[in-house]
Amino acid sequence: MHHKTLLVTGGAGFIGSNFIHYWLEEHPEDRIINLDKLTYAGNLDSLRDVEEKPNYRFVKGDICDKNLVNHLVSDADVIVHFAAESHNDRVNLDPEIAIHTNIIGTHVLLDAAHRHGNKRFHHISTDEVFGHLETEEGFFSEETPYNPRSFYPASKAASDYWARAYFKIKGLPVTISNCSNNFGPYQHVEKLIPLFVTNLMEGKKVPLYGDGSNIRDWLYVIDHCRAIDLIIRRGKAGETYNIGTNYEVANVDLTMKLLELLGRDESSIKRVKDRKGHDWRYAIDATKLKSELGWEPEYRFNEALERTVDWYKTNEWWWKKLKNDEFYEYCRKNYQENNR
Ligand code: NAD
Ligand code: TYD
Repeated sequence: MHHKTLLVTGGAGFIGSNFIHYWLEEHPEDRIINLDKLTYAGNLDSLRDVEEKPNYRFVKGDICDKNLVNHLVSDADVIVHFAAESHNDRVNLDPEIAIHTNIIGTHVLLDAAHRHGNKRFHHISTDEVFGHLETEEGFFSEETPYNPRSFYPASKAASDYWARAYFKIKGLPVTISNCSNNFGPYQHVEKLIPLFVTNLMEGKKVPLYGDGSNIRDWLYVIDHCRAIDLIIRRGKAGETYNIGTNYEVANVDLTMKLLELLGRDESSIKRVKDRKGHDWRYAIDATKLKSELGWEPEYRFNEALERTVDWYKTNEWWWKKLKNDEFYEYCRKNYQENNR
């Protein structure tokens, strides 16, 4: 088989770092170049296990840097694009960061991939571009019209349309995947599961937004990486694939599971003011990925959740440093924003 070089963007983030581990394990003959700006969300601790490998290279830089991106793209066969401002609450506080990375950065990468002979490009997007479901009925399919309801998904929607235009107008072989909420090792403590698990480990309360009835469709990050692998190798250019598991859980039920796994009770829940414009339910129909590419999640939700909790229990060294001044300052601002 032909050995490939992958340019992975945002590889020091949560899903990107899991993907790099996964890919080097499954395709040890391939090379990976990881381009990451190391924002607050980028963390080289997540890549300690692979940093010495001869077929892995880290480059610190911004995906909006045209010269750097063109130079790196010229060395790559495939671009796998994860880099983004990915957290709703942070982007709600400062929407412009999402225009820079999510929109302009994606454009710079697509343009470079086109200039260097239309390189294979996989763009990682989110189910949040579809808006939200208001009842417990129905699912997002690839045909569901886009209807983003806040800044982060609006910027991701723009980048998806941009990627499709590069396919239609410039012939760039692009695939897009829209996935549901991921969880697993190396996820930043600002997100629900890591925040709640680590707060409970520290004997702190967990801030549950609103009435906790909001529903998310949870995807274990390793199953997500397997889906991306299939799409990169066998997906059809110009196509979009939804990735999700139908493990739908209301935040309050998930919180109860976490309390149980950590031996705490309901007195550890702190009810806080709701996120503004809080999407109610996300649910994915992944029939296309399953029937066309044969994907199935390998992990059951409860098993994956237990593995994840165990990972945070045994890797305090990894998350302790993330609960730093910058993080608490962000929490304070977010609390103020939601209570305005
Ligand atoms: P993350 O926030 O953990 O990681 C983002 C990474 O991108 C960080 O390492 C950061 O340093 C890097 N980055 C940010 N701006 C950059 C720039 N301008 N140039 C270079 N690098 C930059 O995010 P994640 O959770 O791993 O998400 C990865 C992708 O998956 C994103 O595109 C996100 O929209 C999408 N997604 C995530 C989820 C989820 O549940 N986490 C769900 C759906 C879609
Ligand atoms: P999050 O992990 O931020 O992901 P997303 O916004 O992409 O769904 O949030 C998951 C759900 O948990 C969402 O409904 C908001 C809720 N939530 C809380 O109740 N408290 C929190 O402190 C956080 C971070 C999220």
